[in-house]
Amino acid sequence: MAKATGLPDASAWALDPGLAYLNHGGFGATPACVQAEQRDWQADMERNPTGFLVRQLPDLLDAVRAQVAAFLGADEGGLVFTGNATTGMQTVIAQARLAPGDDVLTTDHCYPAILAQLRRAADRAGAELAIAPVPQPAGGRAVVAEAVLSRLSPRTRLVVVDHVASCSGMVFPVEEIAAECRRRGVPVLVDGAHAAGMLPVDLGRLGADFWVGNLHKWVCAPKAAAVLYTAPQWRDSLRVGCQNSCRASDLGLYPQHSCSFASSICSYSGCSAGWCCSRGATPPRTWRSWYCGTRSRSCGVRSAARNRTGPTAP
Ligand SMILES: Cc1ncc(COP(=O)(O)O)c(C=O)c1O
Repeated sequence: MAKATGLPDASAWALDPGLAYLNHGGFGATPACVQAEQRDWQADMERNPTGFLVRQLPDLLDAVRAQVAAFLGADEGGLVFTGNATTGMQTVIAQARLAPGDDVLTTDHCYPAILAQLRRAADRAGAELAIAPVPQPAGGRAVVAEAVLSRLSPRTRLVVVDHVASCSGMVFPVEEIAAECRRRGVPVLVDGAHAAGMLPVDLGRLGADFWVGNLHKWVCAPKAAAVLYTAPQWRDSLRVGCQNSCRASDLGLYPQHSCSFASSICSYSGCSAGWCCSRGATPPRTWRSWYCGTRSRSCGVRSAARNRTGPTAP
């Protein structure tokens, strides 16, 4: 394969200098200094695993959670870390209260792994999976919103939409969809795997019931860093895997390793998000600011990101 030439300066990254790496949306590359930070934290942990994991980690993760929440415009009580978007989506989909005759609504831009989860949940409950076709080019936010909302029925129990779709790069009008669904009493789960770091994300404004996002794509965190956001009305009922059994046992929940959303305030997978925040109090840096910020206005990767956002990008 021919080596790429004329690339922007990517010396902050460990990438092969001859490679034009365009797939931060699949697997984000992690800047070299973030990797160094990650190694330092891992070394700290291995010096005294019990001391670190039991005594230090919960408070460290609370601090990181507050930073990530601010970055996403969320209240921190609504965020838990998960290992990836798939796990976060599965947490919500598996707990959708579906009954025979109910509908789950998604679109034909849905990521295949999420579609498979939805199909499984619907089949198990004897419910229907409705797939709204969303045309391309979309013709604007109102057209896309209508393409989804016109498929709502009195039987719809959950709507699942992408924030930024993987297959098409389309940015969905989540705010509009969530507002109408709220009016009709239908919860909305947003697959935001690609959104954080690519778009400004303000979960407070978005109004979704559930939102899942990766930090290991465009935010440049080390792999296995993702979040699940849950709106206040669901926090008492949603149950999440609690990967840090120490905190679960504090709560008297051990050995179930599952606890209510509100009490699951830390997890090992949160470490990966933690690694991307420096030991000071800097917010997580996004791929765009790392790679494109001051270095190259004509950065090829940035234009790839712009192209992916489609006609409805802000
Ligand atoms: C839209 C979308 N949802 C979910 C996922 C799954 O993400 P993960 O592999 O981090 O679980 C991806 C992965 O690229 C994606 O593009």
